[in-house]
Amino acid sequence: MTKVSMTVNGRAVSGDVEDRTLLVSFLRETLGLTGTHVGCDTTQCGACVVHMDGKPVKACTVLTGQAEGAEITTIEGLAKGDELHPMQAAFREHHGLQCGFCTPGMIMMGVDIVRRHGASLDEKTIRHELEGNICRCTGYHNIVKAIQAVAEGSEVAEAAE
Ligand code: FES
Ligand code: FES
Repeated sequence: MTKVSMTVNGRAVSGDVEDRTLLVSFLRETLGLTGTHVGCDTTQCGACVVHMDGKPVKACTVLTGQAEGAEITTIEGLAKGDELHPMQAAFREHHGLQCGFCTPGMIMMGVDIVRRHGASLDEKTIRHELEGNICRCTGYHNIVKAIQAVAEGSEVAEAAE
């Protein structure tokens, strides 16, 4: 067992993990942050996307030890109290959360896409950027609309948080 420490959603956490423990398991099973989902375990679906030091990572493909000292943000860390993050609000507004299972990863990826592209974001770019996030019910249309709405809206700066 190895002791790991990191910051998750602004809170310092630590735990003893086996070397093979995946970050997604640490988040879900040790910290109880079950908003991060496991849809494939083979780095394909994107349901497990979290931010590590400000960049999106597939938490099923990161060992917990690799996150030592890192700043992690999960879907639970986006809202400010009762106030949804602009990307969460946009998914609700534009019906981008059909199944709910892929949604946390889609939202975490959406926040990063807007952060990198800002208001210049177009539909083609969003679809390209979402290649690593699979929607099995083929509901990409509303997901893309929600991300585009945030990019076009005045909330861009907040969405970058
Ligand atoms: S569970 Fe990580 S990519 Fe599917
Ligand atoms: S909305 Fe989640 S799989 Fe389609």
